Amino acid sequence: MAKFFGNLHLVLAVGLAAAIGVMICYGGVVPVDLNNVTHWLHTFFGILWIGLLYYLNFVQVPTMPSIPADQKGAITGHIAPKVFFFFRYSALLTVVTGLIIAFAAGYGHQAMTFSGERQVNMIGLGMWLALIMAFNVWFIIWPAQKKILNLGATEASAEEKAAAAPRALYASRTNLLLSLPMLYCMVSANLS
Ligand code: HEM
Repeated sequence: MAKFFGNLHLVLAVGLAAAIGVMICYGGVVPVDLNNVTHWLHTFFGILWIGLLYYLNFVQVPTMPSIPADQKGAITGHIAPKVFFFFRYSALLTVVTGLIIAFAAGYGHQAMTFSGERQVNMIGLGMWLALIMAFNVWFIIWPAQKKILNLGATEASAEEKAAAAPRALYASRTNLLLSLPMLYCMVSANLS
């Protein structure tokens, strides 16, 4: 038991095999096609991205001030770098799968230009909100965190770190705010 559940990749591999099993069993009712598989992958990466965004906003950021200084290194040196690796790449893969869904289904351009039916424009709004969130992750939060966590090529000065902290916080809280209307658009558009 410990050997299996202690191995993250093995558990994920068995989970993936089980999902493929479900796809084969129900292939007669739900075709295993690009649309359905990308919807599944999109929701998986979206859950991982939003899950880490909510962990940062609801748990890590509010708790850091109460952690004794000599123990903060456990978060900044070990947990946070891992969080920001999965955070930024799940954001990237959520965007890629979302764009594939929209453009493979043929409504991508209409959605992004709000020139379709109201339902198409609704997913368009959700896509733009999520793209702003992804921009915040890659071009504001991650560069700021690289300075704060000393993950950049050169060690950041104390001034640079002090300037990066509010930038990272404001962008992360903006993403928390945007995630609510974005998720409503995502789960309510029901275009397929
Ligand atoms: C954190 C970000 C995101 C989350 C959590 C998320 C989540 C979801 C969920 C749960 C669905 C419904 C899946 C279904 O009906 O089977 C969905 C649909 C969709 N998402 Fe996202 N999404 C996110 C970002 C994006 C982005 C960045 C794009 C594109 C730029 C996008 C484009 C779409 C499209 C086109 C659909 C299909 C709408 C439909 O078929 O009704 N999403 N998303």
